[in-house]
Amino acid sequence: MGKTPALVRAPGRVNLIGEHIDYCGLSVLPMAIQRNVRIVFHPRTDRDVLLVNRDPGFGPSTFTLSETIPPAPAGDWGNYARAAAQALVPRFPDLRGIDAQVESDLPIAAGLSSSSALVVAMALAILHANDVSVAPLELMDLLARGERYVGTAGGGMDQSIILGAQAGCASRIDFHPLRLTPTAVPADWQFIVAWSMVHAEKSGAARQEYNERPRQADEARRLVAARLGHPEDTSYPALLAAAPAPELLEIAGQSLPVVLSRRFRHVVTEAVRVHQAEAAMARGDLAVFGQLLDDSHQSLRDDYEVSHAELDHLVELAREAGAAGARLTGAGFGGSIVALCLAERAPQVLTALRERFYAPRGAAADVERYAFTAAPSPGAEVLTPGASPG
Ligand code: GLA
Repeated sequence: MGKTPALVRAPGRVNLIGEHIDYCGLSVLPMAIQRNVRIVFHPRTDRDVLLVNRDPGFGPSTFTLSETIPPAPAGDWGNYARAAAQALVPRFPDLRGIDAQVESDLPIAAGLSSSSALVVAMALAILHANDVSVAPLELMDLLARGERYVGTAGGGMDQSIILGAQAGCASRIDFHPLRLTPTAVPADWQFIVAWSMVHAEKSGAARQEYNERPRQADEARRLVAARLGHPEDTSYPALLAAAPAPELLEIAGQSLPVVLSRRFRHVVTEAVRVHQAEAAMARGDLAVFGQLLDDSHQSLRDDYEVSHAELDHLVELAREAGAAGARLTGAGFGGSIVALCLAERAPQVLTALRERFYAPRGAAADVERYAFTAAPSPGAEVLTPGASPG
């Protein structure tokens, strides 16, 4: 193991479709984007992890690799590094620490998984510094469970795509067992990401709201399973295999309290949309993919109630400017939208968002940080030792 610093890069992701259903064990369709968390690190001989952040808004953070790593106060960025370390320690009890300098060009709390990118980058840095490796699928699973350290009951989408994405492709992620299946994004399609300027801190205020959704989706699942005479632990994929979606929706509509029935309707219709969207992408059908994005947004807004007025407004503006479809992406409650358009129309959509959304909010000067075209990018990697962050 050399003492020269090494560099790890972990991308953010944009989920194209399949929102709030990964924790139900249902397939999702995200892609990694060209913005990254980068960590320059070198190994230490003791078990300490010393973190500094190039962003002065985030102070230094230090902890020791031990069996139980105590969390920093809720909301502290260092908890994502601790989450990665805590996930690895039981598997590798003798890990040594690292000195690490973190930087990122990913907007934070924008629904683009800057937090999971940090978890993945930290894990790869610690593993590399210790000359150990974990098979990618195992690491995805370990880190998905590990990130719950911060108190969010998230699914496994983010860590999986950040580690397993392929350049030029979106990936359908299936769970139980975990599997990634890439589909090439057509060359004349352009996804655009635009931040609503509303922070959605998964570890902050949005956490309680976020965590309520898996609970409700699960309760709805149990009630429908019971109604069908299936065991209580019948999963969503098993329910969807047992009965056609319209039948499941009818049962839910007749027997569930109204809120649970709406949550259930989102989960089931979104699961169907993921497969339709994957097929539309494979055959280059922009209009159908766009319509599915619109339907997904409506379902997230009305049935799952995770949207925000600013997200709804951005979605509306993107469509008016010529996008084939748009929807909120990520956990919601703020964060970003993703819009799809023909590549040649992207400048026109971005200009419209600048003039009609960012300028009236006094943010026209920052528009390139907030709204940008998203290139389907490769997953995380450790780069050549000695490289410096660029
Ligand atoms: C967050 C979670 C993911 C997923 C999305 C919503 O990003 O980390 O696992 O549940 O929200 O689709």
